[in-house]
Amino acid sequence: MGFFRKNVKLKNGEHLLIRNAVESDAAELIRFFRKVTSETDFLVTKPEEVVMSIEQEKSIIRAHLEKENSLFLVALLVDRIVGSLNFIGGSRERTKHKGEFGMSVLKDFWGLGIGSALLQSLIEWAKGSGIRKIQLEVMADNERAINLYKKFGFKIEGRKEKAVFKNGEYTDILVMGRWG
Ligand SMILES: CC(C)(COP(=O)(O)OP(=O)(O)OC[C@H]1O[C@@H](n2cnc3c(N)ncnc32)[C@H](O)[C@@H]1OP(=O)(O)O)[C@@H](O)C(=O)NCCC(=O)NCCS
Repeated sequence: MGFFRKNVKLKNGEHLLIRNAVESDAAELIRFFRKVTSETDFLVTKPEEVVMSIEQEKSIIRAHLEKENSLFLVALLVDRIVGSLNFIGGSRERTKHKGEFGMSVLKDFWGLGIGSALLQSLIEWAKGSGIRKIQLEVMADNERAINLYKKFGFKIEGRKEKAVFKNGEYTDILVMGRWG
């Protein structure tokens, strides 16, 4: 797999670097995931459930780098990880054309275009990697993320009722997909 690297000018004029996650990002990525999961309840993972060891995180990063149809991206502002996206492609002959992703951006940096830049990068990479179908799951009350996905041509394909339990109630999950 080629190394993905892209510079994007954000709405506030700052320059964002998007590139593959590499093993030396492991410690910072763990801190990033702990922070991002503590800032929002739109992610299924809770901060205490985030990978604990650097070795574990390194092996996740390696697995993404080794698999031709998987991708782990980080978004950096002046060397600090502020966003991340990971896509896992199907491992069978009959499913390798599709995969699922998840993404997150630190709350202080929402609304600057970082989510859009990460998603645009995934779509560009997918085109060159034989991926035809990109899928995701999103909580039905996550309006910001649903708007982002619709902006990039994702359609709602289904609903998993009461699939998440948070803040004392059950929430539906939407399945969204993009063909191309
Ligand atoms: C969802 C998330 C990744 C978006 O990242 P972001 O960097 O804020 O995204 P952008 O700045 O590129 O905005 C993307 C789009 O979101 C939508 N949006 C932005 N602010 C919004 C708001 N207050 N309400 C509704 N939609 C909004 C708009 O469509 C926007 O596109 P536009 O600016 O061209 O109109 C980020 O909010 C996040 O990490 N949230 C917590 C984790 C999460 O929900 N992850 C997704 C799980 S499926």
